[in-house]
Amino acid sequence: MSAMNQAPREQGVFITFEGPDGSGKTTQIARLAEWLRSAGTEPVLLRQPGSTGLGERIRATLLDSRSEGTIAPLTELALMFADRAQSIHEIILPALTDGRTVLCDRYTDSSEAYQGAGRGLGTERVLALHRALCDGLQPRLTVLLLPDVDAALDRARLRNLHAREANGSDENRFEAEGEAFYRRVHQAYAAIAQREPERVHMVGDGDIETVAARVRAIVQQRFPALMHSVAGV
Ligand code: TMP
Repeated sequence: MSAMNQAPREQGVFITFEGPDGSGKTTQIARLAEWLRSAGTEPVLLRQPGSTGLGERIRATLLDSRSEGTIAPLTELALMFADRAQSIHEIILPALTDGRTVLCDRYTDSSEAYQGAGRGLGTERVLALHRALCDGLQPRLTVLLLPDVDAALDRARLRNLHAREANGSDENRFEAEGEAFYRRVHQAYAAIAQREPERVHMVGDGDIETVAARVRAIVQQRFPALMHSVAGV
């Protein structure tokens, strides 16, 4: 996977955001999207699992804690890739072919970190599925938000608690995993960044604005043409 670049048939720029639960990905994607819009570029946003009709059903099945214990690790991995294949087909490839900029909240690195390392299924199995099911599609840039592992765990717990209090949301299957699981996820992300320094840019801790500024700087440096009309950088 490391040497695989985005295939030339796509004209747009494919950017993914990665990180453990509680790393602030969703906020940072929104910030980058806002900045791109201010330059007249309307990005296509999506999340994995989710965003397609099928994907949201897969997401609900996977993340609903009521299913805890009933989904085998390999089934979980297969469902992640089923979701991914569908969103590539329905959203990502059409958008890239149209020359759009795509910001995707999680992609194959999440499967490598969570199923490969977290669940112990191994990197090779995940990368083999990526080759088989993702149509050779690799992000041009992956922004990896990798805060201190303890801080991330605290934030994930808090977020879960608030979500449950506010709307009874029950997406806590993954957050209910033990600390050792999260440490494996964290280590796997660090290893991916080390293995693919060209693609993966790691952004460490900081307040929302500091991290957003770092993300903008990376995007601007990597895609100057995309950024030519953005003001105030
Ligand atoms: P999020 O969308 O709130 O980041 O959460 C999605 C959860 O799904 C998160 O705990 C990570 C997990 N996940 C995997 O385990 N493997 C995957 O391939 C993907 C995309 C997500």
